[in-house]
Amino acid sequence: MKRKLVISTGAGMSAESGISTFRDAGGLWENYPVMQVASADGFRANPALVHEFYNQRRKDLLKAAPNAGHYGLVDLEKDFDVYVITQNVDDLHERAGSKNVLHLHGELMKVRALDNELKTFTLTPANIETSPDTRIEGHAVRPHIVFFQEAVPNFEPATELAAEADIFVIIGTSLAVYPAAALLHYVRKGVPVYYIDPNPAQVPADVHVIKAPATRGIEILARELRAQNS
Ligand code: OAD
Repeated sequence: MKRKLVISTGAGMSAESGISTFRDAGGLWENYPVMQVASADGFRANPALVHEFYNQRRKDLLKAAPNAGHYGLVDLEKDFDVYVITQNVDDLHERAGSKNVLHLHGELMKVRALDNELKTFTLTPANIETSPDTRIEGHAVRPHIVFFQEAVPNFEPATELAAEADIFVIIGTSLAVYPAAALLHYVRKGVPVYYIDPNPAQVPADVHVIKAPATRGIEILARELRAQNS
């Protein structure tokens, strides 16, 4: 039976696709006041600004393509039962072909009805701009993004995946945002944990840190995991 490989990704996963991270030098939160563009209060205060921020993120995403790291994770599906839990709102894991992707912080290419949060709509590349005046099937919409100050509905299924992992891998996250950063605590004792990041955050001593960008780090990881299988 294939071992269950659960991979938790953050903004660093998409950095080599040209998408800005949040907290690195020059990151998004250096240029945009996070509480204005990505919080529940910010959306209430100035929805037009928030729509505009995510319109811009969608334009950036349309110019981007999955990198070798995204494809490397798909390739691991040959030998492992792979599940990706991502904090990223981009769709690069899906576009690379990953089968199981759980989004913790929402999805950039989706919006949802303001009067019914279960009703989501997928935007098409030709139609990515939304505003407070946009109506889809009669509904005013908001970005399908988990804003700061909001609960993370997919956290519970993510904790279940983490608890079932035979191998747990963290890629490209500063581990600064909760509850995503707490997923590691749900991994069973004795399960090997790897962390790929060129500038890793503080992690427990038994985590195997691969200090490298995602593309190279995933190559190193794949070699090591496959060597264990043979
Ligand atoms: P951060 O910007 O906080 O952290 C990015 C991480 O990626 C850092 O640890 C970098 O060292 C690392 N990194 C940079 N380049 C890399 C590369 N080429 N390969 C691998 N890693 C690289 O981003 P997140 O931790 O993902 O939420 O941020 C978490 C959440 O904060 C985001 O989902 C977003 C943000 O506010 C929302 O907007 C809801």
